[in-house]
Amino acid sequence: MTSTVSISADGTVLMVDVGGRHEAVEFNRFWLRDQCPSLPTKRSGLRTWSVATVPADLAVVNAGIDDSGDVVIINWSDGHISEFKTTDLMELAPQAQGRRPPLTEVSLFTGKDELPVLPADSLTPGSMGHHDLLAAVDRYGVVLVRGLPHEDSATENLAELLGRIRHTDFGRVFDIVTEPEAWTLSQSNRGQDAHSDDPFRYSPSGISILHCRAAAGGSGGVSIVVDGFAVAEDLRVADPAAFDLLCRVSIPFIRHRAEAVDQGEDVNMVAYGSVITVDGDGPSAPVTGIRFHERSTGVFDIAPDIVDSYYLAYRAFAERVRSEEFQIRYRLDAGEAFVFDNQRALHGRTGYEDDTAGRRHIRLCTVDRDQVHSRLRRLKEIHDLDGLDRRTRSGASPG
Ligand SMILES: [Fe+2]
Repeated sequence: MTSTVSISADGTVLMVDVGGRHEAVEFNRFWLRDQCPSLPTKRSGLRTWSVATVPADLAVVNAGIDDSGDVVIINWSDGHISEFKTTDLMELAPQAQGRRPPLTEVSLFTGKDELPVLPADSLTPGSMGHHDLLAAVDRYGVVLVRGLPHEDSATENLAELLGRIRHTDFGRVFDIVTEPEAWTLSQSNRGQDAHSDDPFRYSPSGISILHCRAAAGGSGGVSIVVDGFAVAEDLRVADPAAFDLLCRVSIPFIRHRAEAVDQGEDVNMVAYGSVITVDGDGPSAPVTGIRFHERSTGVFDIAPDIVDSYYLAYRAFAERVRSEEFQIRYRLDAGEAFVFDNQRALHGRTGYEDDTAGRRHIRLCTVDRDQVHSRLRRLKEIHDLDGLDRRTRSGASPG
């Protein structure tokens, strides 16, 4: 079967029917010219071409298949000639039809599941173990790393595998210890409902590390981890209208501290965002991010006609987050760390006995998600692994 090409009457669309496919694929004129093989590849970073250099009335004047049958030759109205391999065009065809690559697959977890565990000694930089850590965080949202050296620098060394540590208003690494005069709930011995960190940032904390240097005395201080994606999916099934409200309606998140404290500067941060972010439209749009922290919300400024239904939806989400059905509870021991996607996996803890002498010590830091996903893609390239044809989830959008 030979391939054939045809042009729309106005020259704005090229139809390519590759032999045997029985279906012509349509390519828009500007889209096609943007991919012209005479230009440096889009991956090179060396392109100087601008769409402004072609006329607005650009048209395909004529097009045909060369003698080999494998090359489409296009003559353009501005005199340029493009030559595409038909196989290259077919590889690009999904994008020409407006389709993005599928997202990476996630495995949801609930309270019945076990945490994925990786030993620290498998995490040599650049190794398959390094890849497996980042891939597991992408798939499961949280990984437990065991066997870290008993030194503070283990936090930074683990973070190095993810990317550059982001400075937050707590600095580079937040040493969470129990303080007699706590200025944040983290520094008290009280429990914390599961939440995502820094929702008051336009881009909240990304892939975060909670590294235990010393556990609390007694039996408290148990970490709680909740898969925000699992909560969202459960709500989507139980109450689609509530799910939709949590996707569509933005609420304010705030962090206001008028005076600097020992580990944190003075801040007045405000960001709006929805509790659930999805990729695209429609009732089954995949969830990409969660922004949920009841202690960090401002006054809801929601249209009066939906405020009641919004609170019911928000309540339904919060109820699930607080339910043991969705909670994995695990008491971190010294030398253990959670590596978790803060825009998916919510974290909290149970309270514990007064510990101002015991010095429970947890170290917290975060790396932007795009850096971590960049590292994951590079490791897949280096080790020639599958999965580069998928998109990673872009997290909780501001809005
Ligand atoms: Fe937190």
